[in-house]
Amino acid sequence: MKQLFYPLVSCFSLLLRKHSSNGRRLTPFVSFGLSGFIFFAVVFIYGEDFHCYFSIAQQQQHRGTTTVVSSNFQQSQHHLHLDQDSVNPHPLYNAQLSNPPSISPLPKTKTALAPTKTDDHVGGVEEECDLFSGKWVWDESNRPLYEESECPYIQQQFSCQAHGRPDKDYQFWKWQPHGCSLPSFNASLMLEKLKGKRMLFIGDSLNRGQFISFVCLLHGLIPQRAQSMTTFESFTVFRAEHYNATIEFHWSPFLLESNSDNRANLQKKKKRIVRKETINKLSEYWKGGDILVFNTYIWWITGSKFKILLGSFEQEKKDIIEMETEDAYQMAMETLLKWVDTNTERNKTRVFFTGMSPSHGRSSEWGGDKDGNCYNQTTPIEDPSYWGFGSRKSIMRVIEDVFSRSKVPITFLNITQLSEYRKDAHTSIYKNQWKPLTPKQLANPGHYADCTHWCLPGLQDTWNELLYAKLLHL
Ligand SMILES: *[C@@H]1O[C@H](CO)[C@@H](O)[C@H](O)[C@H]1NC(C)=O
Ligand SMILES: *[C@@H]1O[C@H](CO)[C@@H](O)[C@H](O)[C@H]1NC(C)=O
Ligand SMILES: *[C@@H]1O[C@H](CO)[C@@H](O)[C@H](O)[C@H]1NC(C)=O
Ligand SMILES: *[C@@H]1O[C@H](CO)[C@@H](O)[C@H](O)[C@H]1NC(C)=O
Ligand SMILES: *[C@@H]1O[C@H](CO)[C@@H](O)[C@H](O)[C@H]1NC(C)=O
Repeated sequence: MKQLFYPLVSCFSLLLRKHSSNGRRLTPFVSFGLSGFIFFAVVFIYGEDFHCYFSIAQQQQHRGTTTVVSSNFQQSQHHLHLDQDSVNPHPLYNAQLSNPPSISPLPKTKTALAPTKTDDHVGGVEEECDLFSGKWVWDESNRPLYEESECPYIQQQFSCQAHGRPDKDYQFWKWQPHGCSLPSFNASLMLEKLKGKRMLFIGDSLNRGQFISFVCLLHGLIPQRAQSMTTFESFTVFRAEHYNATIEFHWSPFLLESNSDNRANLQKKKKRIVRKETINKLSEYWKGGDILVFNTYIWWITGSKFKILLGSFEQEKKDIIEMETEDAYQMAMETLLKWVDTNTERNKTRVFFTGMSPSHGRSSEWGGDKDGNCYNQTTPIEDPSYWGFGSRKSIMRVIEDVFSRSKVPITFLNITQLSEYRKDAHTSIYKNQWKPLTPKQLANPGHYADCTHWCLPGLQDTWNELLYAKLLHL
């Protein structure tokens, strides 16, 4: 019980701290100019608080499973040989180490880098098809791919219908690439491929949304009692018992070591620090994953500069420099590629990197109201060239540059443009609100809309259809 109580307290104190320090009012002028920015920050930080709370709720809900995992740990810890650098071993981490994944290879895959021209093409049949270039088409007969009410893993942060969203339109759009059709997601085939394997999503809350979507796409085929989801600190593990497969999520917003890796101690923009050329301290846990899906972007967007730590976090006097965000991000990408290169087996591991997820915090950007946002948006943007200010092209260039110079086989899921169109797909105000709304908020719901995260089912199912297509090389 103490174990459950402590994180609960830390979550609440975190929430309280944030709420009390965000209470200032802005003049209308400043508020207009900065609304996108502040909005982004507040929504995002709050979003993580909700994760924090929710992970505990889930831990309680799945307490039985947690106990099983812990006792596995006790039985197996004698066999562990943790290397000196690894820190804070914990039950899930060790349960995985003591249970090495099978080495049966995935279907033979291309090793070419995704962002190069060739890998965006679909193997064999349709040489010229770029899956990421296309349009949204209405498809009432095949969508949504699952029902919100039927998937028990959708967190209160993504369950828009349960939180009163009046329309369901966002659930019925299908991505239609210009040059070919996206193969339909065959959940039973996917489960077969995952037999005896570990799939890991590693990154921030947007990657968590993709993880939940992936689990929801599969869970209906698995008997209720043969599936479980367990959350422990920054880890969430979904198990499909009969398939001896896990689909996992590890919270690691920068992928590198940072002062926001501990979910009970997330930092606001100004205080975020990433340690140079390191990798998350618990990356040991990523090893042996058969499919790795990384992302990192939004936490880097704190302004034009980012704080980078040269020494270690333990040092009394910290050696911190400020770098251009693009340079810091480039350093991070290069570090990630180096980690992938030295820690994964080429023929066994498939590695994906999901690109920037756009936000829709300012409707003026797509020609809407002067001070609106994603709230009350029910249709996609039709301008094929639409690109919001929040998705930095300079960061896209860094990704292009780093990936094109590298020989490490990572498949880039270039979801930015197709998601840019989806101003209608955000959770907006239809998610759990963690404190009573003020009359002012009630009078203007747009002010507290979350235009960063996405409703499930919805857009992120398409990200997974793209992942599926790339994985199976259809
Ligand atoms: C389950 O998978 C693990 C590796 O992930 C393997 O060591 C074990 O033998 C598998 N068990 C069964 C019953 O297939
Ligand atoms: C899905 O995959 C399974 C193999 O696991 C296959 O038997 C089935 O025909 C596929 N379904 C469709 C609709 O292609
Ligand atoms: C991995 O693939 C390469 C070429 O595709 C091959 O030469 C090599 O033998 C493979 N290694 C293993 C361990 O299967
Ligand atoms: C929402 O949009 C509809 C039209 O699409 C409009 O009539 C209504 O006033 C809008 N509501 C708010 C609160 O902006
Ligand atoms: C991703 O797609 C956009 C256009 O949608 C393109 O400008 C960009 O170069 C692509 N990024 C990479 C790394 O291929």
